[in-house]
Amino acid sequence: MNVLLTGGCGFIGSNLVRLLLAERPEWRIVNLDKLTYAGNAENLADLAGNPRHRFVRGDICNGELIADLFRTEKIEAVMHLAAESHVDRSILSPSVFIETNVRGTQVLLEAAREFGVQRFLHVSTDEVYGSLGPTGLFTELTPLDPSSPYSASKASSDLLALAYAHTFKLPVVVTRCSNNYGPWQFPEKLIPLMIANAVRDLPLPVYGDGLNVRDWIHVEDHARGLLAALERGVPGQVYNFGAASERHNIDIVKLVLTLTGKPESLIKYVTDRLGHDRRYAIDAAKATRELGWAPRHQFERALAETVRWYQANRAWWERIISGEYLKYYAQQYGTKS
Ligand code: NAD
Ligand code: TYD
Repeated sequence: MNVLLTGGCGFIGSNLVRLLLAERPEWRIVNLDKLTYAGNAENLADLAGNPRHRFVRGDICNGELIADLFRTEKIEAVMHLAAESHVDRSILSPSVFIETNVRGTQVLLEAAREFGVQRFLHVSTDEVYGSLGPTGLFTELTPLDPSSPYSASKASSDLLALAYAHTFKLPVVVTRCSNNYGPWQFPEKLIPLMIANAVRDLPLPVYGDGLNVRDWIHVEDHARGLLAALERGVPGQVYNFGAASERHNIDIVKLVLTLTGKPESLIKYVTDRLGHDRRYAIDAAKATRELGWAPRHQFERALAETVRWYQANRAWWERIISGEYLKYYAQQYGTKS
């Protein structure tokens, strides 16, 4: 099968490309990625020369390029991950989130409609559901109630994808996963940022009271879920993924300090994120029941492995947090107190 995978040089995309090449030897992956600050061709450097992986640098908003790829590569399925993905950046500069996440998705849906595909997997997020109170879980029937420009742009693209399934009978499957962690994650997100700061003895910026809750899943478990959804998902259906690993932010930060052997005096409580969602928690029973999927990684053990990966790959993240990222860091954290 010829698969167009968008965003394959990002965190989840690069882990997914590796999984697909290993587990589906008859598939060919065309990886379309714009290489924004978050995308890094180095993430897949070990695949150079692999005839089953073609990297194309380009923008999902470029309809002509997409049509050309569908035609020349005889695309049969789409796995759509490319997106602007960081909530804090969406608060600083929302426009690019609308352009890439909403318009870019619509360009891909149109091309899939024109050329025909067996499956269009749209990778959405649990953040489309908004924030939970202290109890309860997101199910696929929870009403969408996004709160940040990021989650609103993802909710828009999620609904567009479902509208193409309903109106045009495009075989769309939508997945909504909780927070991922693991290797190759850009160190602007909570876990890699805290690891990178801890190993350099820099302050660990905790938003608000540190008691917000996220439900963590290892990226490889998510990638396996995406493969299962592509192969066994029913068109027009939504599948949640999560690993029942709710943790308070502050507990994760303390664990990172323990794992890196650094003192808790590095913790710095800073001004809260605007509109900060309090709690996310996923009910993944539908994916387990209907896709035969289950997470394999246990959070504390896999977090320890992740910390070791960042320690061993310091050159990788030190290179990518130079330049543009330093400007972002100063803008995001420079004035926080
Ligand atoms: P990421 O920011 O690490 O990677 C995004 C990739 O998309 C980058 O390689 C970037 O270069 C590429 N990209 C951005 N704009 C593009 C454009 N206009 N055209 C082509 N490529 C473009 O993101 P991630 O964490 O790997 O997330 C991947 C997907 O999974 C996103 O759709 C995100 O919303 C979703 N998701 C992420 C999480 C998470 O915890 N990280 C959880 C659930 C869902
Ligand atoms: P993040 O990794 O940005 O994921 P999301 O907001 O999409 O869930 O943040 C995870 C949690 O960590 C969220 O509650 C915000 C918090 N956080 C901090 O406390 N400090 C930080 O520097 C960052 C980046 C996040």
